[in-house]
Amino acid sequence: MELPKEFFHTDAIDMLTKVADLVFEPMSKEEFEEVIAEASAAIVALKKIDKNFLELAPKLKIVARFGVGYDNVDVKACTKKGIYVTITPNVLSDAVADLTFALILSLTRRIIEADRYVRTEWARGKKRFPLGVDLNGKTIGIVGCGRIGFQVARRAYSFGMKILYYDSIRREDVEKKFNAKFVSLNELLRNSDIVTLHVPLTKTTRKMIGEKELDLMKESAYLINTSRGPVIDQEALTRALKEGKIAGAGLDVFTLEPIPLDDSLLKLDNVVLTPHIGSGTVETRRAMALKAAENVLYALEGKVPPDLVPEQREVFLKQT
Ligand code: GLV
Repeated sequence: MELPKEFFHTDAIDMLTKVADLVFEPMSKEEFEEVIAEASAAIVALKKIDKNFLELAPKLKIVARFGVGYDNVDVKACTKKGIYVTITPNVLSDAVADLTFALILSLTRRIIEADRYVRTEWARGKKRFPLGVDLNGKTIGIVGCGRIGFQVARRAYSFGMKILYYDSIRREDVEKKFNAKFVSLNELLRNSDIVTLHVPLTKTTRKMIGEKELDLMKESAYLINTSRGPVIDQEALTRALKEGKIAGAGLDVFTLEPIPLDDSLLKLDNVVLTPHIGSGTVETRRAMALKAAENVLYALEGKVPPDLVPEQREVFLKQT
């Protein structure tokens, strides 16, 4: 298990210890190689699961991702070896959508600056705190309107926002429920006051927001990313923020995590940064742990687990 013990809910630990020995990271390289050589299941966060990893793990039946993105897992290599790959869908969508709005509101209502002002200048009364901007009546552009995008749309609708979305397919549910309009990416970028990213990291989405895309955005617009860092060309974003091409960014994910302390993004005032905590609530992490444990139990019992990644559904569900 890639996670330290305190990060995996005790209810899920109880479920698994009935049938298996659990070993938690951190551990030394030697210990790790010993453990993984015998492991039937690996519960992983962001560790790279590639051919090298799989070679160390000849008895593996399942890689259960503790999360919903699986760009760190070589699904093809797992499938070839008959290893299931599962995720924890649905249970984290609300938490990620909440964090998305926390970042949006932090930027539009200048919460970080306001906190600093209270601690340093307010009582001295020299300068007034600058105004923020309303969300009501503004336009949000949701890039990727799957499970998480849907929950972002639900929140945006209740804030009185107009909703544009871009996706590889039409999402009639968001159109009907929240009056969302399906547009091209360029149209979304040109017309949104808030652009928020909810796509998986794939070959197609890597750096999908680069210099050209940032140039299309309004100077008053904010960019939010709670998906995967490499979806944005981070250097281009840093430049755009420095040059005032967009108003600000709220980022929970980065090209390299943890983002190095000397990264120039950390020197900017028009950004709000969080350490990849989209799903980081007590309730959500418990639900994720239970889901990951359930998937592992299925695999250990020789059954196809319920939350296979889409690429494997065809392959393994056909066999049953
Ligand atoms: C978190 O990053 C996830 O993939 O759910």
